[in-house]
Amino acid sequence: MCIARTGRIVVLTGAGISAESGIPTFRGRDGLWEGWRLEEVATPQAFARDPELVQRFYDMQRRALLAPSVAPNAAHHALARLQRAWAGEVLVVTQNIDDLHERAGSRNLIHMHGELLKARCLACATTWPCRDDMVRAGACPACGVTGQARPHVVWFGEIPLGLERITAALHRCELFVAIGTSGLVYPAAGFVTEVAGTAHAHTIEIDLEGSAVSAAFVERRRGRASELVPRLVEELLTAAS
Ligand code: OAD
Repeated sequence: MCIARTGRIVVLTGAGISAESGIPTFRGRDGLWEGWRLEEVATPQAFARDPELVQRFYDMQRRALLAPSVAPNAAHHALARLQRAWAGEVLVVTQNIDDLHERAGSRNLIHMHGELLKARCLACATTWPCRDDMVRAGACPACGVTGQARPHVVWFGEIPLGLERITAALHRCELFVAIGTSGLVYPAAGFVTEVAGTAHAHTIEIDLEGSAVSAAFVERRRGRASELVPRLVEELLTAAS
């Protein structure tokens, strides 16, 4: 791999990067979707039908995320280090709704599937921090309406956030790295093909087992994110120095 020290990098992360921090993935053994039917808890229709069930599902995840044992791991820290030390742009696009990238110090970050620690007002779309169960989210700080808070997460059938910025970054990047994502959920699963279409970018997949779109990557590295991501960051920074 050869990339100039000012080269632009886009990193896509999925549940696999947070697995070693104690947050279950979606589809693995004991994954989050085991025991829950997607359409009962992660769609706008589900929320319209049974808001309490949906809120309970996200309340449970929020409490788990805020448990004292949950912390960013070496992979989150390595990406934050890359962002600080690299001369070019490093954009981290995450499908994760946890805040582990922020806790590790990442700043140039897009949460394309939303953020668990934010509430959104159904009346005026304002978002605000929410670290408690959603029933206690209180009145919307902008319009004052109560009882209209929903988790600020993207459900199936809704449009992911930041897509315009992400697409622009994919088209101009020289390196695209996907970490810990099964490649089953679009549009994120299609990012590698978008980058490959530009012909000037190198693409690397880091995953424990491989994904549904592994074949589209130039380089595939198999193993744990907490080992392979720090190694990749070290390689990039050494090659650039
Ligand atoms: P998945 O649970 O589908 O996939 C997790 C991936 O991480 C798999 O490919 C695993 O092999 C890999 N993995 C697990 N542990 C790992 C480790 N320690 N190191 C490296 N890789 C590891 O999660 P996502 O692909 O992120 O969307 O799921 C994508 C979207 O589907 C989620 O954002 C969510 C879900 O439904 C919405 O809720 C809208």
